[in-house]
Amino acid sequence: MKASTIQDFSKTPDNFHYEDVPTPEPATGHIVVKVAACGLNRYDLYLRMGGIRKDMPLPHVMGADITGNIAAVGADVSALSENQRVIVAPGFPVNPEDWNHRPINQAPSYTVTGTLKWGGYAEFVHVPARFVIPDDTNLPQDELATVPLCLTTAMHAIKTLGQANTGSKVLIQAGASGSGCMCIQVAKCLGARVITTVGSAAKVDTVKSLGADEVIRHDVEDQVTRVRDWTDGQGVDLVIDNVGSAVFDANMKSMRLGGTFVNFGLLSGYKVEFNLRDFFFNQHTFKGSMMGTLEELADGLALLKSGRIKPLLDKRFDLKDAGTAHAYVDSRQVRGSVVLIP
Ligand SMILES: NC(=O)c1ccc[n+]([C@@H]2O[C@H](COP(=O)([O-])OP(=O)(O)OC[C@H]3O[C@@H](n4cnc5c(N)ncnc54)[C@H](OP(=O)(O)O)[C@@H]3O)[C@@H](O)[C@H]2O)c1
Repeated sequence: MKASTIQDFSKTPDNFHYEDVPTPEPATGHIVVKVAACGLNRYDLYLRMGGIRKDMPLPHVMGADITGNIAAVGADVSALSENQRVIVAPGFPVNPEDWNHRPINQAPSYTVTGTLKWGGYAEFVHVPARFVIPDDTNLPQDELATVPLCLTTAMHAIKTLGQANTGSKVLIQAGASGSGCMCIQVAKCLGARVITTVGSAAKVDTVKSLGADEVIRHDVEDQVTRVRDWTDGQGVDLVIDNVGSAVFDANMKSMRLGGTFVNFGLLSGYKVEFNLRDFFFNQHTFKGSMMGTLEELADGLALLKSGRIKPLLDKRFDLKDAGTAHAYVDSRQVRGSVVLIP
């Protein structure tokens, strides 16, 4: 089969090789999926650079957001059949001994799909049968490939950890990012009111079309002033942060007394100065969020099927152009997500 592999780690996206690699055969309890589309995430850029881990055998095939049709089923797989449309879980434990761990995203060997096993930058991918969901969305498979990782993350961060509900005021950083787009939509489905940040005029309409009530242009406006004005000086109930160090102080000043801070990303860096005095005086709660469970993804997919959440596909790239797709994601122009098509 054809795949876009990396053979070393590189800060620039010139380490992809479009080449022939062995087509997988399904092991017991596994299936082989013919990839229809594979979504890109910022995570893929870190993985390409060696920023996640350097102990992966090379060459490597990355790619976490996979939609496709089952090409072959292994022994002991009875609930799935050839040609069936499926969505691959964007993360699962690579060690079968962890497969019954609950919650699954706290299993010791839980990793993003395409990290320690080969992922979806290929024509076929080999996955455990229990970590796919039959796809009954009726959505185009390329659009759907923008969804699994970001929707799982948004459901976990906003609903499970953030406990947003009717009337909650939520600040969502980087609203037009792949994860931000899903966070806005999940928060709105839960009845929350959303204020979000974007870095250019071109992205304002995008996040408004997803339901954002207020938009802060972080390139020209002061976040804290805008949030304070919007909340009558109180601050928001919940901050959802994927930007990290550059906005940490502003996020602290944007949160109400007793507010909750959920972080799941570090676009600008991960080192911050944390003020314990402010933390306890303001009775803040801090939570770290890493992906989520299959059940959370299934709950999110129900919202997608009802039309309350929509995928946001910015651009399609051929599988052979994985490097160009990475450069485009790095450019900060993307609204939503991009996908690779084998
Ligand atoms: N823990 C988890 O479960 C989980 C899940 C998903 C994502 N993440 C993390 O969340 C972060 C976002 O991922 P993503 O895939 O949603 O990103 P993405 O789609 O590539 O979006 C990135 C956007 O963030 C904004 N941004 C703000 N500050 C930035 C900076 N210093 N550098 C680059 N972009 C910046 C930019 O938009 P503006 O120009 O409009 O500001 C940029 O377009 C990453 O750190 C990723 O690893 C974590």
